[in-house]
Amino acid sequence: MPKITYIEATGAATTLDLAEGWSLMQGATANGVEGILGECGGSCACATCHCYVDEARLGDLPAPSDGEQAMLENVAAPRRPNSRLACQIKATAALNGLVVHLPETQE
Ligand code: FES
Repeated sequence: MPKITYIEATGAATTLDLAEGWSLMQGATANGVEGILGECGGSCACATCHCYVDEARLGDLPAPSDGEQAMLENVAAPRRPNSRLACQIKATAALNGLVVHLPETQE
């Protein structure tokens, strides 16, 4: 199972073993990681699962869909080049060791 590390704005870090196919949002909300809300349940409609992906690993992720790109316009915290929506990133072996930073606010 791929290991994903979430680093909250406070600096608190949580590393989870995520089942392949789970989204990074599902993993965070199921395991009490604060800083990701996931209010729409993962349907790319709320932008409360905003995260900043380790820039060195951006190339390991599939490119964001048009829908994700559009929803990224609505994130509460500053959007950066490495901004993604955690509900749109599925855990795969290729993402093992990925680090994502969480913004100070999601709403
Ligand atoms: S959980 Fe709503 S956009 Fe990701």
